[in-house]
Amino acid sequence: MKNPWPFPRIIAHRGGGTLAPENTLAAMRCGLAHGFRAVEFDVMLAQDGVPILMHDEQFGRTVAGSGAVATTSSSVLSTMDAGSWFGAAFAGELVPTYQQVIRFCHQHSIWMNVEIKPTRGAEQATGAAVAAMTQALLAVGQATPLLSSFSFEALQAARAVAPALPRGWLVEHIPADWEAGLRGLDATALHVDQKGLTAGQAAAVKAGGWGLFCYTVNSVERARELLSWGVDGFCTDRIDLIDARFA
Ligand code: G3P
Ligand code: MG
Repeated sequence: MKNPWPFPRIIAHRGGGTLAPENTLAAMRCGLAHGFRAVEFDVMLAQDGVPILMHDEQFGRTVAGSGAVATTSSSVLSTMDAGSWFGAAFAGELVPTYQQVIRFCHQHSIWMNVEIKPTRGAEQATGAAVAAMTQALLAVGQATPLLSSFSFEALQAARAVAPALPRGWLVEHIPADWEAGLRGLDATALHVDQKGLTAGQAAAVKAGGWGLFCYTVNSVERARELLSWGVDGFCTDRIDLIDARFA
């Protein structure tokens, strides 16, 4: 049977976990400095359709102000400070484009779990744009990235544009029809919130031959438990506690 998880086991969440402002190049540098050559981050479309890194649709948490990503152009977003909220040392750290982050990851041989994070109504467009850019910038010699999303529609669009790119379906709780969902997307793996996962569910997913990924695992004890259940990989905010060689 084909290995459903040919990917790294331990992945830095949003770039640098709790040690750097999420979804920035500073976060990627921080993850790398902690030995992580595998990273998860969130990609959203700006008003002009350019993919950029951001978790929240609305400004106010990681960038100041009261606007929204979907109504702001990428040229404006690229001038916005995404570091000050985290600490003065990161002031002036800008919102990166997805393209900038791909280049950084290629340069440093960092594997990417690209979470497609569509704003409401832009599911199809975001899945298609992220998949197209990922495919176009695939570099020779680089490990194939993994696309994931909570949005079924975004993953369907990604599949239509770049069928060869592996897909992970993100769910908070495993739904009753999880296997039909994975089949419908021709996905590789189920990505699930570790909080509610049970040993029985993990065994069922693995028995089906699927990859199983957990977010977000922040203690060594829980990491050990999940791996002992057969979980293939997880992302962590605690890159200081659980290092890339942990497993
Ligand atoms: O991709 C795993 C995880 O990042 C999903 O949740 O909200 O942190 O993007 P969130
Ligand atoms: Mg994410």
